[in-house]
Amino acid sequence: MANTPEEKLDALTADEARAELERLGAEIAHHDALYHQQDAPEISDADYDALRRRYEALEALHPGLAPKDGPSARVGAAPSEKFAKVRHRAPMLSLGNAFSDGDVSEFVGRIRRFLNLKDDEPVAITAEPKIDGLSLSLRYEDGALVQAATRGDGTEGENVTTNARTIHDIPQVLKGEFPPVFEVRGEVYMSHADFEALNARQEAAGQKIFANPRNAAAGSLRQLDPAITAARPLRFFAYSWGEVSSLPADTQMGVVRAFADWGFQVNPLMERCDGVEDLLAHYRAIEAQRATLGYDIDGVVYKVDRLDWQARLGFVSRAPRWAIAHKFPAERATTILNAIDIQVGRTGSLTPVARLEPVTVGGVVVSNATLHNEDYIRGFGGDGLPIRGGTAEAPVDLRVGDTVTVQRAGDVIPQIVAVDISKRPPAAKPYQFPSTCPECGSHAVREDGEAVRRCTGGLICPAQAVERLKHFVSRGAFDIEGLGAKQVEAFWDKGWVREPADIFTLKARFGSQGSEIQRLSSTEGWGSKSAENLFAAIDERRVIPLDRLIYGLGIRHVGETSARLLARRYGDWENFEASMTAAADREGEAWATLLDIDGVGEILAGAVVEFFAESQNRTLLNNLLRQLEVQHMEAALSDSAVSGKTVVFTGTLEKMTRAEAKARAEALGAKVSGSVSKKTDIVVAGPGAGSKLKKAEELGVAVMTEDEWLALVSG
Ligand code: IVH
Repeated sequence: MANTPEEKLDALTADEARAELERLGAEIAHHDALYHQQDAPEISDADYDALRRRYEALEALHPGLAPKDGPSARVGAAPSEKFAKVRHRAPMLSLGNAFSDGDVSEFVGRIRRFLNLKDDEPVAITAEPKIDGLSLSLRYEDGALVQAATRGDGTEGENVTTNARTIHDIPQVLKGEFPPVFEVRGEVYMSHADFEALNARQEAAGQKIFANPRNAAAGSLRQLDPAITAARPLRFFAYSWGEVSSLPADTQMGVVRAFADWGFQVNPLMERCDGVEDLLAHYRAIEAQRATLGYDIDGVVYKVDRLDWQARLGFVSRAPRWAIAHKFPAERATTILNAIDIQVGRTGSLTPVARLEPVTVGGVVVSNATLHNEDYIRGFGGDGLPIRGGTAEAPVDLRVGDTVTVQRAGDVIPQIVAVDISKRPPAAKPYQFPSTCPECGSHAVREDGEAVRRCTGGLICPAQAVERLKHFVSRGAFDIEGLGAKQVEAFWDKGWVREPADIFTLKARFGSQGSEIQRLSSTEGWGSKSAENLFAAIDERRVIPLDRLIYGLGIRHVGETSARLLARRYGDWENFEASMTAAADREGEAWATLLDIDGVGEILAGAVVEFFAESQNRTLLNNLLRQLEVQHMEAALSDSAVSGKTVVFTGTLEKMTRAEAKARAEALGAKVSGSVSKKTDIVVAGPGAGSKLKKAEELGVAVMTEDEWLALVSG
């Protein structure tokens, strides 16, 4: 590197300094891109640090000369858009929740039934604290740490390898005997003492104060500058694994013991329990120590100990059947309801929000709580029954000025669970729910049988239009990197993006450098490079899979799963659009075909058809489709021998339980039905099969034994 030595820096004239800052800035940006986006650095961390130090020294000598969007401004700005993505080789799952003792015995009962265990067969289940941090996957090859990735959406996370290497609890190399490939997973967290000391330092330096240890841990791990991570006291507990070439034991407990041998910290409170009583006793023991552990935990995780049973139990959507998180009860505090505001959602729903006198609940400052809808404010729950201890005749409503109890459970939005009527100010009046939209003034109507009042303004309502755009760019939809909710709002305010198609014409309107966007101040996160990056990210999404497009439209009731069902059924956009238009005739065939999709009911179907019947939506769609190439959609797991097939299991199965057979078949893309018809493709018949087998034979449906079926699905 041809750098002027450090001591000569102060000899530079202002012009020379400006030129040098520019040169260094470009060089740093170049290395940032290699490191964060391409994961292929050309220089060592030490050399990179030297570049940065030089830049900072020069900047300190000439305050005001450094470009506003230079490297110093970029540190800590929206790091999620700067880390390279890592696709997890085994998905990082979440856990189902248990909130009561009853939920725990149901969990154990489900396992026993699924595995078809005899009443006297014991099920060993481990119990360990649920650490309130963020999960991290560490890949070791031949015992050396090669990659660290955050959970992200479970499928794709962020590459934080350099940062993870600075964490003392994470071994760079494993000790003892280990398989050639092993992904250790666990939780990064911060202790209470370290958290308080960090916040004290942050405050003294005039820097951001963290709300809780979890946020501090996340913020510290996801730093662009590994030196910052290194200076933050992060810790790590190992408790799980991803891709492995082999396992060091055949039980959960055994693998965790191996983690300890390899040099990891494992939680000392993990225990192997037999049965529900034992689990609950250990849960209470952990709960009793919660306040003195020195780090945050939010429950106890139970896991079936035998790994062969874990494998048989498998997963339901994103969570394992063999594990569950038994959460600690929610935390509560008392405060004052200062105001009730109305927010307008993507589908026009008017949602009341409580503005509270800020109060700390379980370590987090709470100043808003959800109020759901007008009935909830009046004192009635979703089932129409009185809540907060009121009666149908004397409901307990909420009024501005009331003293209320707020409850917070984990990441759930805080709720108001009680009102102290004795403290109600005499002048407090019942809340009048608005009958017009506070954003656009259109009528807000509540349809029969609906709890929600909706603005009828459609896309003329700015709130609805913005919310739809936010949804359009959200993760399961177009997922445009660098264009999140915040940017959508800013672009809306400037009048740059008013409908989805506008996103794709930004570049043509602003030029490839995005000069207008650059003019947004750097405090809003835009530098010279980021406009170009944004255009690149937008261009990447001009080719879009049909299911993402359908989901992105933000049609009421159409979530990611139903969007996928629709996309699979109709295959391409032209067919989908034509079919939805034709389905407006509820007597016709298109409507019947739509309802025939397994998982599509009248409400969803009606919402889709209505969406297409709206001329405003058609205009938006036409504009948008001109910008896109929509990819066709294939049926799921089309490489599986049974995908798309309808299967019926009948008689006694000997190698697996019914539940297990069904789950496996569905995971391979088959549909499992309870009765045999012309639509049935395969009947798997065990001993004792009766009428269903007979019917299959009559209809000429393929019949196979359990062994033949197993050979087919594992082949
Ligand atoms: S096991 C397949 N064990 O909880 C099961 N998770 O709600 C993988 N977590 O994403 C998770 N402590 O970040 C497991 N002792 C523990 C845990 C734990 C905290 C977190 C983890 C996971 C989340 C699921």
